[in-house]
Amino acid sequence: MSYAHLFSPSAIGGVEMRNRVVLPSMTTRLATPSGEVTPELVSYYQERARGGCGLVIVEMASPQRRGRHRGRELGIDSDEYIPGLRSLVAAIHEQGARAGIQLGHGGARALPTELGGRPLASTAGPVPVFETARFVNFPELFDEDSLEQLVVDHVAAARRAEEAGFDMIELHGAHGYLLAQLISADENQVLPNAAARYDFLASLVRRIVEAVGIPLSYRLSGQDYYSAGQTVDDSLAFLPYLENAGVSAVSVTGGHYKSVDPEIMIPPMPYEDGVFLDAARAVKARTRLPVIAVGRVNAPAVAEDALAQGWADFVAVGRGQIADPHWARKTQQHLQVRECLACNHCVRTMRSGQQLACAVNPTVTTTDRPATRTVAQRRLVFGAGPAGLTYAVESARAGHEVYVIARDRTWKAAAAPTFNGYRPDRQRMRRYFDGLWREAVEAGVHIAPEGEREPPPEWRTNVDVVADARGATYVGNLGPLVRILIRVLSRVPLPKRLMKSDRLHHILLYDLRNPRRKEPTRIPGARTIKIGDAAQPGELAAAVRDAFTQAWKENSDD
Ligand SMILES: Cc1cc2nc3c(=O)[nH]c(=O)nc-3n(C[C@H](O)[C@H](O)[C@H](O)COP(=O)(O)O)c2cc1C
Ligand code: SF4
Repeated sequence: MSYAHLFSPSAIGGVEMRNRVVLPSMTTRLATPSGEVTPELVSYYQERARGGCGLVIVEMASPQRRGRHRGRELGIDSDEYIPGLRSLVAAIHEQGARAGIQLGHGGARALPTELGGRPLASTAGPVPVFETARFVNFPELFDEDSLEQLVVDHVAAARRAEEAGFDMIELHGAHGYLLAQLISADENQVLPNAAARYDFLASLVRRIVEAVGIPLSYRLSGQDYYSAGQTVDDSLAFLPYLENAGVSAVSVTGGHYKSVDPEIMIPPMPYEDGVFLDAARAVKARTRLPVIAVGRVNAPAVAEDALAQGWADFVAVGRGQIADPHWARKTQQHLQVRECLACNHCVRTMRSGQQLACAVNPTVTTTDRPATRTVAQRRLVFGAGPAGLTYAVESARAGHEVYVIARDRTWKAAAAPTFNGYRPDRQRMRRYFDGLWREAVEAGVHIAPEGEREPPPEWRTNVDVVADARGATYVGNLGPLVRILIRVLSRVPLPKRLMKSDRLHHILLYDLRNPRRKEPTRIPGARTIKIGDAAQPGELAAAVRDAFTQAWKENSDD
């Protein structure tokens, strides 16, 4: 497939971009507790810029200290942050991408522990929030002065962004954060009618646009997915206000903390690809402004199609670029991209207060690239599940000669009744797994024919490392029985609900399994290591992390 649309240059408000792939704003918690830029944060964004996207939108930063929604949120509410932000922008520019930053204020959903008090907002609540824990906020209401201060602080933050060298600014007007509260009848008791709410937001936008010389994009909700929330018609009604206020682009997302299923904000496995594309398309049909589409558009064909059909001008690939920072470059070169499973392990770790982590890419927060041995080794891998293949790919990329013995081409976890608590998207899981095979082949890994249990004689000589990645074994050979039990339990309605219980899931899939005891074929002179479930039965993220760690450790000369 040709990706002619994805990789054609374009522009937002006169700022030219090398292509139409955007990294949308995604909180990483890689800033310091007070909000300073860290080397990990720079490395994270630089790697994604190096990976070929046209525009990097740096994560949400609140224009007011009182709007901080999370711990370790990036700061922009004081001039002290400018030098750090400048170094971040320079790192992104160095890789040929444009840099934007999202200004986002938590409003009623700011974190009381961050603020040391009640949030200030347009609603007195109760306001549901789920971050490190589920809680309900009862904010203080804005008065006229505090509304004016809000505008002043947004303008000041935008000026800081410009001074730091950002090419554009995005305002977060969705997902239930402050600007989404201000636009909504449901969460704005201060400005009771729609015209007053739209006028206030338009004046906020206009004052920013007049104060800075860089373009401003606005993140809109296509659909809040709850009865009193915003609909696409509401957003279409607001669109002319944004256009008149001088906005240069709109990004169309969806979902809200109050959505019937709040997870739709960052749509996990059970949702279809392109969840918010209909809304983007509706907005695109009503405006001349460039439209950025987002939400499960990370399959290259889906992204290209959205542009080719004229439903959007840019596509934001979020988790796709967490999972594979080189999504854009690889797509353009028709190389295998490491597929995001939409398992939302990243969202859960981030929301639980930890730094961003990914189930299929444990290098998200690393600043160091793997060491490379000066002398290439010969490595023999037994087992071709995610851990075995990941180890093989990482080893081959470091220049080692790698051989894999694969009993079959199936990934047993793909048959489990739930994955990370979701109904599994087996097609996507299959794509991830097939993709790993293709990555291995692209990296030059030799794979024995399926069904072959022993390495051919020519693979047995001069082997340095034997990696046992055959997975775990069930206690007392209970494997076949447990698999039948799982299959039965996941088909009958009541036990089906039981199977969704994390505890039962854990017992059946992990607690009843043992690490591998018996070594695979002994190869004289080779050192045997165990990786993934063979070493410690656990979740995919842990197995893949172990495979990376061990490959990198083996790659080091010391
Ligand atoms: C870990 C994580 C953090 C996010 N943080 C933000 C944020 O700060 N601001 C925002 O507007 N969206 C945020 N999002 C939503 C993304 O920008 C994007 O809309 C969403 O992930 C859907 O796109 P995708 O399917 O390509 O991942 C976050 C998503 C993830 C996965
Ligand atoms: S953790 Fe899961 S959802 Fe998040 S980027 Fe990685 S694979 Fe995708």
